[in-house]
Amino acid sequence: MNQVDLLQKAYKKVEDNKENIQLDPYRLHFHLMPPTGLLNDPNGLIHYKGTYHVFYQWNPFQTAHGSKFWGHYTSRDLIHWQEQQPALVPNEWYEKDGCYSGSAIEANGELVLFYTGNVKHGEDKRETYQCMAVSSDGLKFEKKGPVLFLPEEYTSHFRDPKVWKREDVWYAVVGAQNLNKEGVVALFSSTNLKEWNHIGILAGSKLNGLTDLGYMWECPDFFKLGEKDVLLVSPQGVEAKGHLYQNEFQSGYFIGKWKVGTTEYLHGEFTELDRGFDFYAPQTFEDERGRRIMIGWMGITDEQEVYQPTIEKGWVHALTIPRELVLEGEKLIQKPVTELKQLRQEDGIKYNVKLENEEKSWEKLAGVVSELKIRFEHLEAETIELNIRSHLKLTYNQDQNLFTLQRKRFKDGKVESRSCELPKLEELYIYLDTSSVEIFINGGSEVFTARFFADPKDEEFAVNVKGQVHLFIEKWNLVSR
Ligand code: FRU
Repeated sequence: MNQVDLLQKAYKKVEDNKENIQLDPYRLHFHLMPPTGLLNDPNGLIHYKGTYHVFYQWNPFQTAHGSKFWGHYTSRDLIHWQEQQPALVPNEWYEKDGCYSGSAIEANGELVLFYTGNVKHGEDKRETYQCMAVSSDGLKFEKKGPVLFLPEEYTSHFRDPKVWKREDVWYAVVGAQNLNKEGVVALFSSTNLKEWNHIGILAGSKLNGLTDLGYMWECPDFFKLGEKDVLLVSPQGVEAKGHLYQNEFQSGYFIGKWKVGTTEYLHGEFTELDRGFDFYAPQTFEDERGRRIMIGWMGITDEQEVYQPTIEKGWVHALTIPRELVLEGEKLIQKPVTELKQLRQEDGIKYNVKLENEEKSWEKLAGVVSELKIRFEHLEAETIELNIRSHLKLTYNQDQNLFTLQRKRFKDGKVESRSCELPKLEELYIYLDTSSVEIFINGGSEVFTARFFADPKDEEFAVNVKGQVHLFIEKWNLVSR
């Protein structure tokens, strides 16, 4: 189908589903979602000529994966978003099965996209083309076709180019699999963006002290933060180990030092970015204020995906709120961008309560679209549990130094949990939207992200302490974006 017909077909799908979607109480209020169909990875994040651009993997036709478009939102302030015409539509031979993930840069005043053209032959065979598209207004894109070709060191699991400039040279990292079926990151350089030179493998599943970190690394991102070079990757095929790597696929980072222009990248351990259930394929960009901002897909391709209750309303998945990344030692800290404070409806409501071996609940405290800041003082308790909207349970076990998030499984309502080690609980900063939660612990040193589907009217918040605590709670209702 040609571009115009494909676009018409997508618009019709959006139109036909509008009413159905408007009736959905789980439609989010301050997160980016697809107008209909399925959304996955954030793509092409950029602050271009004063406007923030967020593109995303989009299947307009089904709430399932398929031949992806690049949907497009713009904003002046990271809060109010405007839906734009899809930037990429998969109508050319080299992308017939999807304009897969990629990135954006500004070059000679133009907004340039790099993405993967995906061509499938049956279930297992595929071709991959790293393509370029250019725009002078940031809204309409002209495709330039494939520019970066698959070197013979990799299988055709080779995708998601992330391009950046360092010391006047363009570089690209591409998510890849080597011929031994190990996940790696391939590194390229270019002086003109059209011809790319393969430098080699920057990092990989069994390199640099790693024993085995999966069979494929998707969505790499590589950037300088302070004096360090940070590599984000989303590895597939990592085995669960204790509380680690519990999701089907992971997203995490390495901190290291890159000898610019070479494959020499000495890095430390792989650390998961998010400890919750729904977080994958994050991407970052630097804005004009010099902040490194990350947005992730608040979802994941797993067995549960098909059981999300929004599917019957014709849509599925969303993006996370924008989070600023800050380096503290060898750890990445995530902070909700300060702009989000504009969402607050009124002065916060404050509660301050001392509890000892007791349970206390507030019928309306949690809210449905809200922000909660909870400070814990004089915490001496075997466990402290917070129940949110009768659906989420956050538990801190002080003896075991363990923080746990529980929710009800989409498939059958059974309780499932994710945990992380936490030596001390000082503060929780919680963003609640109609069907999502993002929990920033102790200033963002650990983060839990999850979708959940509670009774839309339930706003209860309850605390149960085995021991004692002095709680300072501040709550704001938030407006829709
Ligand atoms: C990650 C991913 C990418 C790919 C895209 C396709 O979720 O699998 O590797 O480009 O999704 O939608």
